[in-house]
Amino acid sequence: MYDADDIIDECRIEGWKVQSSKQLQPLKLNTPARCHSFLFPCFSRVAFHHEIGKKIKDLNIKLEDISKERQELQLVSITGEQRNSQMAHRICRETSSEYLESDIVGIDEEASNLVQLLMDRNRGRNLVYAIVGMGGIGKTTLAQKIFSTEQIRAHFDIKICVCPCVSQDFVGINLLKQIIRCAGGDFGDAKTKAELGPLVRKALGQKRFFLVLDDIWSERVWEDFLRGPLLSGAADSRTLVTTQNEAIAKQMGAVYCHSMKQLSVEHGWLMLCRRVFSDSEVEDIKELKDVGMKIVRKCNGIPLAIETISGVLKTKERNNREWEKVLLSQTWTFNELPHGIMPVLYLGYEDLPSHLKQCFIYCSLFPENYEYSRMQLTQMWIAEGFVQAKEQVVEEDLADNYYSEVVTRSLLQITGKGFREMDCKMHDLLQSLALFVAQHEYFSGDPQHLETTLVKPCHLSL
Ligand SMILES: Nc1ncnc2c1ncn2[C@@H]1O[C@H](COP(=O)(O)OP(=O)(O)OP(=O)(O)O)[C@@H](O)[C@H]1O
Ligand SMILES: [Mg+2]
Repeated sequence: MYDADDIIDECRIEGWKVQSSKQLQPLKLNTPARCHSFLFPCFSRVAFHHEIGKKIKDLNIKLEDISKERQELQLVSITGEQRNSQMAHRICRETSSEYLESDIVGIDEEASNLVQLLMDRNRGRNLVYAIVGMGGIGKTTLAQKIFSTEQIRAHFDIKICVCPCVSQDFVGINLLKQIIRCAGGDFGDAKTKAELGPLVRKALGQKRFFLVLDDIWSERVWEDFLRGPLLSGAADSRTLVTTQNEAIAKQMGAVYCHSMKQLSVEHGWLMLCRRVFSDSEVEDIKELKDVGMKIVRKCNGIPLAIETISGVLKTKERNNREWEKVLLSQTWTFNELPHGIMPVLYLGYEDLPSHLKQCFIYCSLFPENYEYSRMQLTQMWIAEGFVQAKEQVVEEDLADNYYSEVVTRSLLQITGKGFREMDCKMHDLLQSLALFVAQHEYFSGDPQHLETTLVKPCHLSL
């Protein structure tokens, strides 16, 4: 597709060149230069026609090869509309933040034990606790559950939850400001660590503080910005860190590391049922339990894996044949993914219809943990030409359908509340998957690393 786009772009550019050379060069018939500038575009156009002709020919050969392969492999094409109608009744299972909370399974006991520990005053003042475990196992979910517990709300005067993964310095300064604001203080024009530190101490005074630092990859934010001002506080505050790396938790002086366990098969199945079926589909649940449990086992008790495969199953017919196809997919053993990205996530991507694949990959251009507004993202998809409306359908409506389907498939997760209730985020591992899939054509990040894997740069976000 990009090759065809390139050919059209090249023709357009050549067209502009020809047009502007005509406008810029009024005829001066008596000068030698005139002869040169008159002949040259003519020759160059012959060469250009030849070159473009060859490119179109090559492209046609490529397309014919693909078409032959398609016939050999007996692939059947499913159009966007057919898929949309298959999906229509399922997409509308609405996704609000309440829905997400009610779908959390198997961590009530862990959460309440940790809440007790965090509130235990006998353990000492100003302590760091940690939740550790592999990517997608549910650390953030557990920390959020704890954070929103009524007891925690009542026990602590100030509560903040942040994910400082973006840029350490920027986050450090912002964190200090946020703490001052939440503690009822005023940071005025203070901008530096040296200015903000004492203001944090002053604002905190005797107040009890609960801070969640989610997804920590280095102890620097803690060491450089927070340790001093927070630990000098008078009251028994708590910091809860989530990290994949236990060593970081130790470096931060965690007094307790909670190691997250995989979900049991029963909880995994419960999670899958809650995400795939509605309460009335009891018969379907019974019929599909055997194959469903086998699918759950393949997810090894990792909630993100179960969530992703639920997104795939939601779009399938409710019968054993369709579910067995998912169970027997070769992609479960796909081993060419970067470390930490589970094959089942790729299965979630692979199952997307092509128009949604582009939309998903496009999200690789945004920073990790970016919060998308539905309006902004769908408008961008339209601007990129990913949304091809036909006949009576308005592009915006179609783009909204795309958005709903990606959300239904759990490749984007709703985070918003109130009037921003359709805002969403992409899980960091899915974002890594999007970056991996897009690596040859999309680039996002520091321009110094631009040269690496780009084969055909089409989208840059610097
Ligand atoms: N106990 C659970 N019940 C149902 N869903 C869960 C549970 N735990 C996690 N999930 C879902 O699984 C997904 C991954 O969980 P989460 O983001 O908490 O993992 P994580 O360990 O923080 O991953 P990472 O290390 O990549 O940040 C989330 O979308 C969440 O909704
Ligand atoms: Mg997390």
